[in-house]
Parts: sequence; structure tokens; C-alpha cells
Amino acid sequence: MSKIVIANWKMNPQTLVEAENLFRASSGAVVCPPFVYLEELAKIDSGAVLGAQDIAVSDEPGQTGEVSGEMLKQLGAKYVIAGHSDRRWKLGESDETVNKKLKEVLEHELMPIVCVGEKSRDSDFKMFLQNQVSLTFSGLTKEQIEKCLIAYEPVWAISTTPGSRSDTPESAIESIKIIKEVLVENWKLEIGNLSFLYGGSVISTNARDFLSLKEISGVLVGGASLDKEEFKKIIDISLNV
Ligand code: PGA
Repeated sequence: MSKIVIANWKMNPQTLVEAENLFRASSGAVVCPPFVYLEELAKIDSGAVLGAQDIAVSDEPGQTGEVSGEMLKQLGAKYVIAGHSDRRWKLGESDETVNKKLKEVLEHELMPIVCVGEKSRDSDFKMFLQNQVSLTFSGLTKEQIEKCLIAYEPVWAISTTPGSRSDTPESAIESIKIIKEVLVENWKLEIGNLSFLYGGSVISTNARDFLSLKEISGVLVGGASLDKEEFKKIIDISLNV
């Protein structure tokens, strides 16, 4: 089965010209640029699919600065990231807010990329993860959870110096197992119907370690997705594992 590669550009690049160049070089991936580039990038036939990095909690118009699911759809986004750790930890987004956003993504029939992951791998990490997963998916049906790409991104492994501190495949699998157990126990989901991604300092030299695992359906790439050559290597690996 082919693996999925998703680029999270975060608040990069600074100009539309750079965004267009990067997008043209991202064939085969899902690219999540800042909102402001979606409309122009959707006009380019690059072989990449567009996603958004966030979504408003509802279509209610009195939300200054927010972007609705309806708008995202019109701009050409097919995927939406919900609950990225930058938003959870730097911008104070709660599990309840992430849950509302996730429901909004599903409501608009967009494909959810749902991020979960512990802040530090201490003795409580298992409980933390179980709790975060229960609250993030709260109120969703089994069928809705099956539509999600669940990105396990340990916060401590995100945006480290290239290659210095990604998670190990073994511990990523241990965490994915914990997440699976919560979903199987609470929602009676079939393990085979769940899709997991790994994210956190994925670069071309460690991508294969994660992409070759049967438990992992793809990778969510931040920093390395901003380097055309590096990102192309990761996409190539995803096609050959
Ligand atoms: P990174 O970012 O690849 O730079 O660690 C991943 C992410 O934040 O989604």
C-alpha cells in the first residue's frame, strides 16, 4: 500500500513566489501551506494536493481572524490539520477546541489530519496520551474516526536540529499502540481500519525507518518540507518502501 507524505509548512515561506516554487516541487505529497497561499496554489497543477493547517470551530461569522471550513473548501483544501501541537502548546488550544475543530472538518467532508502526542516522555506519558486521545475524539462515531489520519507527533521530537532527536521507530510504535488501545476499547474500532502517521523531525535519512513500518501509513513533515531536494527525497522513499 502506498504511503502518504504530508508537508506542514507552518508560517513559511514569506512570499507567494517561494510558496509557488516549493509547491511545484512537492508532487505526490499533501501540502498544508498558510491560509493566504491556498487560493493561488490551487491554480497550479503540481501533482500535490492541498490541505489547511487549521479551521474555525464553526461557520458562525463573528470570529475575527478565523477561517471557516466552507472557505477552506472553496479555496481548494482537501485536508485539514486539527490539533497540531504548535496550536495546542504555543497558542493554548484545548482538547475541547481541537475536538470541535475535528468535528467541523468532518462536517465539511474534508479529510482530517488529527495530531496527538505527549509533551514529554516522562512516567505519566501513557496516561497523558490516553486522556488526550479520549478528549480529542470525544463524541465522534466509529465511522468518523476511521476517516481520520491520526498523526502521532511527540512534542519533544518536533523541530529539533535536523536528525538529532526524532523519536525512535520502536517508541513511536509503543505510543501508537497506546492510542489504538484507547480507540479500540472506547469505540470498538477495528485496528486495521485506523491510519497512523508519524511526525517529529522527519528528514530524508530517517524517513525510511518510519515509512517502512506496517503500523505507519505516512509521515507529517515540517522543517524538511521547506527544502525542495530534501522533501523530494522523502517523497521518493515513500514510493519505494
Ligand atoms: P518537524 O515538524 O518535521 O519540523 O519536526 C513536524 C510538525 O510540526 O508537524
